[in-house]
Amino acid sequence: MIWCSGWELAAAVSNAGGLGLIGAGSMYPEILDEHIQKCKAATSKSFGVNLPLLYPNIEAHIQTIIKHQVPIVFTSAGNPKTWTKTLQDAGIKVVHVVASVLFAQKAEAAGVDAIVAEGFEAGGHNGRDETTTLCLIPMVRKAVQIPVLAAGGIGTGEAMLAVMNLGADGVQMGSRFVASKESSAHLNFKEAVLAAKDGDTLLTLKELTPVRLLKNPFFEKVKQAYTDGASVSQLQELLGRGRAKKGMFEGDLSEGELEIGQVAGLFDEVLSAKEIIEQIVKAYNTALTKQQTL
Ligand SMILES: Cc1cc2nc3c(=O)[nH]c(=O)nc-3n(C[C@H](O)[C@H](O)[C@H](O)COP(=O)(O)O)c2cc1C
Repeated sequence: MIWCSGWELAAAVSNAGGLGLIGAGSMYPEILDEHIQKCKAATSKSFGVNLPLLYPNIEAHIQTIIKHQVPIVFTSAGNPKTWTKTLQDAGIKVVHVVASVLFAQKAEAAGVDAIVAEGFEAGGHNGRDETTTLCLIPMVRKAVQIPVLAAGGIGTGEAMLAVMNLGADGVQMGSRFVASKESSAHLNFKEAVLAAKDGDTLLTLKELTPVRLLKNPFFEKVKQAYTDGASVSQLQELLGRGRAKKGMFEGDLSEGELEIGQVAGLFDEVLSAKEIIEQIVKAYNTALTKQQTL
């Protein structure tokens, strides 16, 4: 997750039994290099890098990832055909993020090892079609043979069991870990996430890159721009550059872009990654036992 998952969060998640990912989308190549080195020093467990494929200097990121032999890369926002083979030839597993059945099939055809199927509820950049996790997972499950990880709206062990029942082989969680101790999100943003209720986020800016945002004064400006009939270039101008950093990393809750999922309405405490994973595993096991004894 851009501006939230640096080496500290990735290592903490991996040390607690998950697979931590470093979000490379907000990092210059030398910063990614530093985060990979620090993550390696902080955990002996496997960890990965998320690489948005539209990243401008992507070749430098790919070289850094290969140089450090990062075991697994999660690619998103782009065509998986371009880099999958290069990474796999270097011994790296590739998982690609999709939001539709068609793109799941295309990713499988491109040879990726697994996919993340991400529903409309998810925080951050998202698909245009508004397919919810509840509907997307069984459809994608039917359409591909490779492992499917469900994402979007999963913040508890019960939700994890629900998507596994729908055919997922595992889950990817974002929003819950934004509000973790090790997340590099600004404290103001973490507190705003904890304060969020249902209805406080909306998917917007579909003409640019669709993104689910927490409603704040910047979001209201976007809404007003739509009411005024803004063109794509006017929306682009309004968004400008650096809004996500301003909001999520620097804590400007008025002018920043605050990316978070619908599930934020469930969280009321900043916990360590270890505590979050322990809670999730415990709730998953309790729900599974209950289900099996029904
Ligand atoms: C603040 C934030 C930043 C994110 N950044 C990225 C990113 O850089 N690349 C990516 O593939 N997904 C990104 N995501 C999506 C997450 O990886 C994950 O798929 C999503 O959060 C899952 O849904 P949830 O938010 O309901 O848990 C981001 C999500 C959030 C909340």
